[in-house]
Amino acid sequence: MSNTAETANSCEQGDEPVSFEASKLGRKDHWDSVYDREINTFRETGDIGEVWFGEDTAAKMVTWVCNNIDDTDARILDVGCGNGHLLLELAEDGGYTNLTGTDYSAQAIELAKGIAASRGLGDKITFVEQDFLSATEVARIAGEAKFDVVLDKGTYDAICLKPKDGGADVDQQAIDTYPESVVGSLKDSGVFLITSCNWTEDELVARFATHLECVGRVKHRSFKFGGAVGQTVATVAFKKAK
Ligand SMILES: C[S@@+](CC[C@H](N)C(=O)[O-])C[C@H]1O[C@@H](n2cnc3c(N)ncnc32)[C@H](O)[C@@H]1O
Repeated sequence: MSNTAETANSCEQGDEPVSFEASKLGRKDHWDSVYDREINTFRETGDIGEVWFGEDTAAKMVTWVCNNIDDTDARILDVGCGNGHLLLELAEDGGYTNLTGTDYSAQAIELAKGIAASRGLGDKITFVEQDFLSATEVARIAGEAKFDVVLDKGTYDAICLKPKDGGADVDQQAIDTYPESVVGSLKDSGVFLITSCNWTEDELVARFATHLECVGRVKHRSFKFGGAVGQTVATVAFKKAK
């Protein structure tokens, strides 16, 4: 694959992150109904549904994996995989063979399995339900072997919007559990690649600092607003902190 994703290694910690109010994007019933609709659309039209943050962003994550993970049998997990498109691209474009996609929405898993089967990849990618905030489910999916690579595109963003007890406040316990689940899923030598639209690169580095150490950043198209230059999405690679 061509190298369109440039990586930089300036990984200093940033300022304290801002906080968000809870939203429906943090609720499982929201995602169940989204994927219910997308299953119907896929059956009727073949449209695979939303590719979060667009195809360019997914392509940059795939390129990062291709450039950094030589072993095509590496065990790769996509957390909150939705329709599974990231893993489909890793299989089709990268030749990766040991792929697992998980999501807490049974409908997402049904959709991902259907799309994979329609592309002849039904027996090549494992799609399975998992609540990534449950230590038991993290241990069940990771097994003794654990993963060489954990990917997240938009799932941490959703988790950061999870309502506490159905109210307007976010569920801080869920936010705090997330990096523990990443660490619980990764081999000691493993890497974690996350894309977010809610947090900047520096905020991601600061948020995960206790558990994970930044090892690279993927550049995305930047925009200029009010004299400040920023990116619409941030992608950062981590390894386990020592
Ligand atoms: C913004 S969507 C991103 C979907 C997909 N990664 C993509 O890029 O298209 C967030 C996904 O996270 C999933 N999700 C949210 N909380 C989760 C949790 N605790 N465990 C597993 N999946 C979760 C949702 O069901 C949804 O599929």
